[in-house]
Formats: sequence, structure tokens, C-alpha cells
Amino acid sequence: MGAAKVAFAVEAVRRYGATLMVDSVAVAGPLDAALYEARLVAGVFLEVDTGLGRTGVDPSSAVVVAAEVSALPSLQLRGVMTHEGHLYGFGADRAGLDAAAVASARSLVAVAEELRAAGHAIDVVSVGSTPGLAAGPYVSGVTEARPGTYVFNDGNQVRLGSCTLDDCALTVLARVVSTQRAGTAIIDAGSKAMSSDAVSADTGYGMVLDRDGLPLDGVTFPRANEEHGFLVGAGTGVLTVGDLVRILPHHACATVNMWSELTAVQADGSYERWPVVARH
Ligand SMILES: Cc1ncc(COP(=O)(O)O)c(C=O)c1O
Repeated sequence: MGAAKVAFAVEAVRRYGATLMVDSVAVAGPLDAALYEARLVAGVFLEVDTGLGRTGVDPSSAVVVAAEVSALPSLQLRGVMTHEGHLYGFGADRAGLDAAAVASARSLVAVAEELRAAGHAIDVVSVGSTPGLAAGPYVSGVTEARPGTYVFNDGNQVRLGSCTLDDCALTVLARVVSTQRAGTAIIDAGSKAMSSDAVSADTGYGMVLDRDGLPLDGVTFPRANEEHGFLVGAGTGVLTVGDLVRILPHHACATVNMWSELTAVQADGSYERWPVVARH
């Protein structure tokens, strides 16, 4: 872990009493040293890999790593956590996804029990993903769920069966700027405005909706340049220059990160502007 990230973590502990997450003594060691220097003690969660294969200790090594982390003077092991991001790979197989969410949570609960048997006080057992939210948190022994995308929902979550179109709160409002060719409408939202991060082969830049948020039949958004989006299909015939459309992003988190401000609209049409912070 780089010095800047260590300093950031120490500041988060000092200001907010933040709990840190670690998956090895290689990560925990520099944090512990910097906290010791700052005369601070932080709670830590041991991150466990329950299937994503990204960060997180393998469940079979958790007891050994927990012992190493607990031996550090400025870190107190308080819980275990996982991010079950592999659930995104299940596509429309909702039964398979739910079963994998339960398996993931059970694996984390089993690690918590092993750590308790080894003498650690494990108070928090934390799962975290939006597709897993309907199943994982209900496994006995789980104490916390950390969904993120759930705040807005998005096209990926609709395709995974986590929500319906009506549950999606975030769209990119775009204007038709050119209709020179039949079957194509150009909008003022391109690859700098949208994330193309999709969970399925259904690629492109998002679902095209009308201004009121209803799907525009026969219109897709397969291509983008930096400032221009290409809407194609027979349904573009209804669009004229100046029309507004809404694009439901595949991935809300990555799309929000493209913008410095959100417009939060109430049901009565009143709105507020929210700055987007912590983008990087
Ligand atoms: C560690 C961790 N926890 C929770 C989440 C939230 O997952 P989701 O966006 O599926 O709700 C993420 C997302 O990247 C994550 O990396």
C-alpha cells in the first residue's frame, strides 16, 4: 500500500474513527506502523474472498492471517467482510445468483465462527453487493449488508433481476442534436457522459428512454464518440433536433463518476444540485 493511501487511512481513523479492511499482514503492517506513530488504534475487518477472486484472504488461510493481524499493536480485529462481486457473472440466472449469494454469506459466517473459536471477538459479519442483497444478508450470522449501486439501481441491476425499470433513479438527460441520416439520431451524450460497463453481451451505452422515462421502442445506443452518441433503429424516426431523451446507464456508479454534479428531482418537479465528491 502506498504512503498516500496509508496517510489517507490514518486521517480517516483520526477524524471519523473509520474501520479499515485488510487481507494480509503485508497490507496491515504499514497501516499499523503509521497508526502507532500517530498514537491511534483502529478497528479492522479481515476481508475474505468468497468467490470474486479480487482481494480478500482465501477462507482456508483466514485463521493464520487473523492471528498475524491481531498481533499488531494498533489494529483491533473486529469483523470479517466480503464483496461478492462474482454474482454479476450470473446474468439472468436469478436462481443461480441467489444460491451463490447464500453460499458466499455462509462461507463468510463459517470463517467468523472459526475465528471466534480461535479466540477473536468477531462482532461484524459483513456482506456487500446489490445483486446479493435479496439473499445473502438473510443468512443466519450475517450482521451487515453494504450494497452500493442499490442507491440508484441501473440497467445492469434490471438485467440481473435485482430491480425493475421503475426502481431506477438515475438517468443521463441528453438532447438530440442532429438527424441527418434515416434510422440515426445523434445526441449530445457520448463516451465522456456514459459508462459502457455492462454485465451482459448487451453492449452499448445504455437503454434509451423518452423524456418521461418510458422505453423508446426500436432505439438502441450502440456507439459513442467523446461528445456524441449514436442512437439507431427505426424508432429514431420520432426524434427531431431539440428533443430530450433519457439514457439509463448500465452501471450507475461508473456513470456518476463521469459528472461533477447531479440534479436531484423531487416528484413535484422541484430540484437541487448535488456536487459529486470522492470521484477518484
Ligand atoms: C468492497 C465493496 N463493497 C461493496 C460494494 C458495493 O457493491 P454493489 O455496487 O454491487 O452494490 C463494492 C462495489 O464495488 C465493493 O467494492
